[in-house]
Amino acid sequence: MNDRAALNPDTFPEPSTLEVLILPHDLRKRVTQIAEAISHDYANEVVWLVGVLKGAFMLTSDLARNLTIPCQIHFVQASSYGSGKESSGQVQLDNTLDVSGQHVVLIEDIYDTGNTLKRVLRDLRQQNPASLEVCTLLDKQGSEKHPVEVKYLGFEIPKRFVVGYGLDYAERYRELPYIACLD
Ligand code: IMP
Ligand code: MG
Repeated sequence: MNDRAALNPDTFPEPSTLEVLILPHDLRKRVTQIAEAISHDYANEVVWLVGVLKGAFMLTSDLARNLTIPCQIHFVQASSYGSGKESSGQVQLDNTLDVSGQHVVLIEDIYDTGNTLKRVLRDLRQQNPASLEVCTLLDKQGSEKHPVEVKYLGFEIPKRFVVGYGLDYAERYRELPYIACLD
């Protein structure tokens, strides 16, 4: 994409024009609560936070800095969206981790169809972790879903296309400290 297209306000509206769905303050509060829950649930353990790149990078780091127990931080890379707003259904996974014997919390930005989570969970489960739970910042309501048990959930949201706090549209808007709607 050339510079002109990357700056086109029809394709990429100014962040200030977007409808904000979740404010930074509310994100902070909820993420702190989740970190407290994880710290409580894994007391006396070293928990492995495994973030799904790229969308979960911000949540993973904010969770880590609010934990009161020791942790390791790891990432796997999964992509299913391409640059559109509808899930392609094809999940590409790059996982070089070995989680055998570890207590793992898998961290994802959003549970939409669950395709990504299902794929990553299958991969991690095969490695026999000591335990494996899921944390997602958002759960998109009204999507047709593969059933996934999400132990730590930030917010339920309506079926909108959202960006910010790690979530992108064509690699843009990940840096926003809030969740906003792009549709
Ligand atoms: P799923 O596999 O359909 O659950 O989709 C999960 C992946 O699609 C997430 O990791 C996101 O990267 C992406 N995704 C789903 N919904 C949205 C959205 O509203 N905004 C940005 N990315 C999304
Ligand atoms: Mg994405």
